Amino acid sequence: MKALCWHGKGDIRCDSVPEPQIEDGRDVIIKMTACAICGSDLHLMDGYNPFMEKGDILGHEFMGEVVDVGRDNKKLKVGDRVVVPFTICCGECQQCLRGNWSVCERSNRTPENATKAFGYSTAGLFGYSHLTGAYAGGQAEFVRVPYADVSPVIIPNGMSDEQALFLGDIFPTGWMAAANCEIEPTDIVAIWGCGPVGQFCIKSAFMQGAERVIAIDNVPERLALAQATGAEIINFDEIDGTVLDYIKDMTNGYGADKCIDAVGAESHATASFDAIVDKVKAATLLGTDRPHALRTAIMACRPGGIVSVPGVYGGFLDKIPFGAAMNKGLTIRTGQTHVNRYSLDLLRRIEDGEIDPSFIITHRAKLEDGPELYKTFRNKKDECIKVVLTA
Ligand SMILES: NC(=O)c1ccc[n+]([C@@H]2O[C@H](COP(=O)([O-])OP(=O)(O)OC[C@H]3O[C@@H](n4cnc5c(N)ncnc54)[C@H](O)[C@@H]3O)[C@@H](O)[C@H]2O)c1
Ligand SMILES: [Zn+2]
Ligand SMILES: [Zn+2]
Repeated sequence: MKALCWHGKGDIRCDSVPEPQIEDGRDVIIKMTACAICGSDLHLMDGYNPFMEKGDILGHEFMGEVVDVGRDNKKLKVGDRVVVPFTICCGECQQCLRGNWSVCERSNRTPENATKAFGYSTAGLFGYSHLTGAYAGGQAEFVRVPYADVSPVIIPNGMSDEQALFLGDIFPTGWMAAANCEIEPTDIVAIWGCGPVGQFCIKSAFMQGAERVIAIDNVPERLALAQATGAEIINFDEIDGTVLDYIKDMTNGYGADKCIDAVGAESHATASFDAIVDKVKAATLLGTDRPHALRTAIMACRPGGIVSVPGVYGGFLDKIPFGAAMNKGLTIRTGQTHVNRYSLDLLRRIEDGEIDPSFIITHRAKLEDGPELYKTFRNKKDECIKVVLTA
């Protein structure tokens, strides 16, 4: 079968690989009908994850039709259409029972790496390196889904793949980022990053009742989409002054009540000193992440506010203004998304017409065009915001 495989920094290929088989009674095999490229995949492409190996199959945002079912799986049957959440969950450990799905204690098959990196293991993730279980990903014609009696969401027939696909990752990610802000009706929410995750943060913040949203990026078409959703925008390349000054101006000096970092480890910033140092450190392996957006979010948040961080970070972050966070009494919340907490509620919201997640898609192509589209998405060429690939 065809699959998108990682071969090194910037080197993603469409390879011919063996088809997956059922390995455990709870597994299913799905025939992929749609998959997407996520901003998190770009961290792998850009070589930020030292636990990748040549030939690893990428992809963690995918859906398809069930074609084979393990003998112990009582939930799914051949022919079901399912969206598969990117977090793999056993459904039985302490963390799964608490609803902390993305830190399932049992699904990571390579827990020694995660324990070394984070102190404890976190959940297995599809297509996301030997840090999180070394599972083959969903940018492939067929995918083995372990613990498939727990997380996959059965999609009703009337709903298209494009409407349903993002239930597996970026829609619940934006939703949880907003939910972590405990939005109140008078809230001004500032959101760094207008990529796919940022766009779902903006939608979710409004759906959860925010009065105003301020969106920050430097990519014109992404800012335009944010504006179309009702956000006020800051293009950090076009302002004269800092983002912090602008946020103060736009809030009568008060600050943003809630701040969301939807950028993560590969933040860029024009000519700011901290961003240049980050870049040099990351390039010379002296640092792992470039947290410029996170620093600004902490500084721009009003005292007593909440900073929510869906953006992915991998290692040790430099020069985080923790003094500002401490003295202002900020609450900081973060995490890989606990997708299952939100799946059924968000599925219902799509069915009820509250949101059509396909608004985000700009590029549609075949799996074999994936390597080219990884570059288009990463380099923000051709006004690319979100890529969907079909088999
Ligand atoms: N927590 C989770 O479970 C989860 C799930 C999916 C994605 N993510 C993470 O969310 C982040 C965003 O994902 P995406 O798909 O939207 O990726 P993306 O790379 O398309 O979007 C990032 C956006 O941030 C902008 N940006 C860069 N530096 C900035 C700065 N200093 N200020 C403001 N904007 C800046 C970029 O121009 C881009 O538009 C990534 O880190 C990704 O790994 C997390
Ligand atoms: Zn993702
Ligand atoms: Zn578990």
